[in-house]
Amino acid sequence: MKKIIPCSIILLFMTHLSSAQFKPNYDEAKVPEFQIPDLMTTFSGETIKNSEEWNSKRRPELFSFFEENVYGKVPGTLDNVSFEIVERNEAALNGKAYRKQIEVTLQKGNRSLKFNILLYLPKNKNKAPLFLGYNFFGNHTITKDPNVLVTEAWTMNNEKLGITENRAKEASRGVRTNRWAIDKIVDKGFGLAVIYYGEVDPDKNDFSDGLHALFYKEGQKQPKANEWGSLAAWAFGLSKALDFLEKEDQVDASKVIAFGHSRLGKAALWAAATDERFAGVISNNSGCGGAALSKRKFGETVGRINTSFPHWFCDNFEQYNENEEALPVDQHQLLALIAPRPLYVASAEEDQWADPKGEFLSAQNTFPVYGLFSKEGIASQSMPKVNEPIQNVVAYHIRTGVHDVTDYDWEQYLIWAKKFIE
Ligand code: GCU
Repeated sequence: MKKIIPCSIILLFMTHLSSAQFKPNYDEAKVPEFQIPDLMTTFSGETIKNSEEWNSKRRPELFSFFEENVYGKVPGTLDNVSFEIVERNEAALNGKAYRKQIEVTLQKGNRSLKFNILLYLPKNKNKAPLFLGYNFFGNHTITKDPNVLVTEAWTMNNEKLGITENRAKEASRGVRTNRWAIDKIVDKGFGLAVIYYGEVDPDKNDFSDGLHALFYKEGQKQPKANEWGSLAAWAFGLSKALDFLEKEDQVDASKVIAFGHSRLGKAALWAAATDERFAGVISNNSGCGGAALSKRKFGETVGRINTSFPHWFCDNFEQYNENEEALPVDQHQLLALIAPRPLYVASAEEDQWADPKGEFLSAQNTFPVYGLFSKEGIASQSMPKVNEPIQNVVAYHIRTGVHDVTDYDWEQYLIWAKKFIE
């Protein structure tokens, strides 16, 4: 069970574990022999023959498995969700976009939680398709726009980005513009909505705050073994943002793509799996517990991720630490829960920790399920060369460079989204 342990002790433990005990495997020859669990055969051995059987039998049982044993269940429903536009401007981005900042209030009994959405919409579109995603350090970090509110929530320290004492300040305005190609997005006729993930659930192994605390029964201090970790809480937050986008006239809410990088890519995938209103999803370098196959044990493993980040998944997932063989599913089956909606998985060549090959194989192996819906997945079983994207309804690229989101990534996402979402 999770306990509340001071961060310094966790850090010490992580350092200890990384240097002394855990050696990630980066050698393809040492990847264990394994069978990719079959998508088209139910747990009781029945063969899935068509999309109806997929929807009525296989999808629900896979979904339940991931919900009960990997990400965890949302333990109830909210009493109320309300939205307030706290700031707006008709001439943002040199006049080509509308900007709105929306405060979302989630209410459960006498407890509440607030988070902010920053929204940019192209002015030359009546109803824009849109990317919705989280950022790591606050909405004000994704743009130099001086009107974007600085988050008041707990923030991970990052001296390089000007964040100390767990609070974001003016110094960190615009420090992550490199990850968000806002101009390119708006110029192509898409909107962008972002949220600081720490406002929904602070990224620490402490269940006393954030979304979890809203749902506790009296005396409860942490989620039950099958209840949500932080990834599922972040996914839930994206759904609540989508509730707002559905009310926003200038947004085409049937064309909202969940987007996320790394841990936030894991959250975006789970959001699209749990909420079928998302029109599609982009997983950028999401790795272990995201797009990458767990059974390859290449780079980050289940045991390692559950040790370094014990709050991300539900406690039930811990039974697979150093025990991936026992998993009756793998992450291609999470990706298949997105079908028939467009899905983009992207890797980076130097991001071996996230196992690019495992990410590719996972996307590739959704092929039969997309086929049930006459949608084109990825037929080729060999990885494409770097910087040579495959873009079907299921898309994949591996680009040169490190774990990051770059303009190159956004350029590919925009070409693909124009074709399959707009
Ligand atoms: C760590 C973690 C990854 C995660 C990444 C990130 O490297 O091990 O699983 O994706 O952080 O979110 O940047």
